[in-house]
Amino acid sequence: MISLSLDGKVGIVTGGVQGIGRAITLKLAEAGLRGLTVLDLKLGDAAQEVAQRAESFGVEVLLLEGNVSKNEDMKKAITETVKKWNRLDIMVNNAGMGRQNDFFTTSEGQWDLIIDVNLRSVFLGMKYAAEYMKDHGGGCIVNMASISGVTGGNTSPDYGASKAGVIALTKFGAKTLSKYGIRVNALAPGTIETVLVKSNYATLTPEAAEKRLSTIPMGRMGTPEEVAKVALFLASDLASYVNGETVMVTGGRMS
Ligand SMILES: NC(=O)c1ccc[n+]([C@@H]2O[C@H](COP(=O)([O-])OP(=O)(O)OC[C@H]3O[C@@H](n4cnc5c(N)ncnc54)[C@H](O)[C@@H]3O)[C@@H](O)[C@H]2O)c1
Repeated sequence: MISLSLDGKVGIVTGGVQGIGRAITLKLAEAGLRGLTVLDLKLGDAAQEVAQRAESFGVEVLLLEGNVSKNEDMKKAITETVKKWNRLDIMVNNAGMGRQNDFFTTSEGQWDLIIDVNLRSVFLGMKYAAEYMKDHGGGCIVNMASISGVTGGNTSPDYGASKAGVIALTKFGAKTLSKYGIRVNALAPGTIETVLVKSNYATLTPEAAEKRLSTIPMGRMGTPEEVAKVALFLASDLASYVNGETVMVTGGRMS
């Protein structure tokens, strides 16, 4: 029987309260993790709800409030996780954000914010997770890129650039961390029905929104769970020889 079990393992999901991150939190919990840290900006009712649902699968959850682009917050996520469970096997660098802007309306401040939240954070998450994993039997890292990192995207110049950086970091990680038993892969979702996408679509005319949807061969947005299932595969031993890849989850948009 094929098993996707993560029995006894410990993981971290950044941005795990909402959207794709929430779905990944629940999917990893369902697969039998022992401990799971969720690092997110705000820990309100939504965080409690996702923690309770995850715990219903038998996983212990540590909720941490912090900003993934801040060195001390990311470092703390790794040290607190290791302090609590004495291991770290899976690091999912999911948190990210996007805005709808063209070249002319993108300020330097917005550029810096998007690059910090989407790219700097992944560097920090990889660095601190790998620092632990390399001396403790390895592990696996899953980074959240985007179709925009491959195509340049159509939301803003900073977003695609940040996600292309995530793809490059993933490849660099695979090349330099494999010798420590650490696999690094990325996911590149297309259009997934989350708050981030809904707020982008809300700025479009109905015709423009329709036109964008018509570029998806499957004719619909993906669900967060459809991305989470691929994250689980990458985090599991079924993907033991998958390394340095960016897996497209786009409903056929790259075909
Ligand atoms: N939704 C899509 O269609 C889509 C497509 C491609 C890639 N992505 C990527 O997937 C990831 C998740 O996107 P989503 O659509 O679920 O977004 P979302 O806005 O629904 O959720 C993002 C989560 O990350 C958290 N977060 C944001 N900034 C943070 C920060 N600085 N520190 C800590 N936590 C932070 C938020 O609080 C939230 O819980 C992002 O990296 C995004 O770029 C999304």
